[in-house]
Amino acid sequence: MNNQSQVDRYAVFGNPIEQSRSPEIHQMFARQSGQSLTYGKILGQVGKFSASLERFFNDPNAKGCNITSPFKQDAANWVNDLSENAKACGAVNTIVRHDDGRFSGDNTDGKGLIYDLTKQEVSFLNTNVLLIGAGGAARGVVLPFLEQQVQSIDIVNRTKTKAQDLASWFARKNVAGLSFEELNQNNKNYHIIINCTSASLANELPNVGDYVLSKADMAYDMVYLPKPTVFMEHAARLGVKTTSDGLGMLVGQAAHSFKLWRGVMPDTHEVLNHLRASL
Ligand code: ATR
Repeated sequence: MNNQSQVDRYAVFGNPIEQSRSPEIHQMFARQSGQSLTYGKILGQVGKFSASLERFFNDPNAKGCNITSPFKQDAANWVNDLSENAKACGAVNTIVRHDDGRFSGDNTDGKGLIYDLTKQEVSFLNTNVLLIGAGGAARGVVLPFLEQQVQSIDIVNRTKTKAQDLASWFARKNVAGLSFEELNQNNKNYHIIINCTSASLANELPNVGDYVLSKADMAYDMVYLPKPTVFMEHAARLGVKTTSDGLGMLVGQAAHSFKLWRGVMPDTHEVLNHLRASL
């Protein structure tokens, strides 16, 4: 018997949370894979996040949740176990409740990006990757790129020390932090350039030199808007063959969360088309 009171419950916590597309995405995944679940939005209060998580999980039907800004680090401190990637970035976007009562934390943002790039037929082996920005968004994708055996990852940031700190956190010879000035003076060929800042939302371009950008095979912006972002348009004008916004990453990270909870990888194609059409 499967009445409403026994339906598995999921939710996304954030502040603000109104803008989140996660409920729509997960409800589509559930319909598609014939699963019965509910997925809501919960506005977390800064300083009281643990209490709201605990309230949610007091319901035995609550099986997991997503966490978005600004609570990803709090979530990493709250869970019992962390996946390798969540440990590496110190941030959790997915909590899974296990039958033995433990809560584990994972971070599927980077997997979502790799998934989307793979769908767009990007190859990783021996490529040089440039990450623009050194905040949480960049931090979450370093290990997933390393797992794809890229040749190097350079992180460029306005505040160079932040890029260097992030690079040294991973303690790998092939991960380095640099300033825009250094980037624009070096002659390195970056195959994949990811804009991990939200500059496009303010219609701003990061200070990557035209020469550096023009040599990329893929210019990817983690944000999305109803039209191509200023970063994508700029890269396309410089001759970059493939440009993309971050909508596929959003759907990809959700699909990986769904798989952690339900054991099935949903089909993302239909969901991505639906979201694209409704931006
Ligand atoms: P998130 O967790 O989403 O990554 P964040 O931690 O606030 O957000 O980090 C945002 C990153 O984008 C920072 O690295 C920031 O650079 P600074 O550290 O120098 O502030 C970068 N950023 C934001 N707007 C930018 C812009 N217009 N041009 C270049 N970098 C920008």
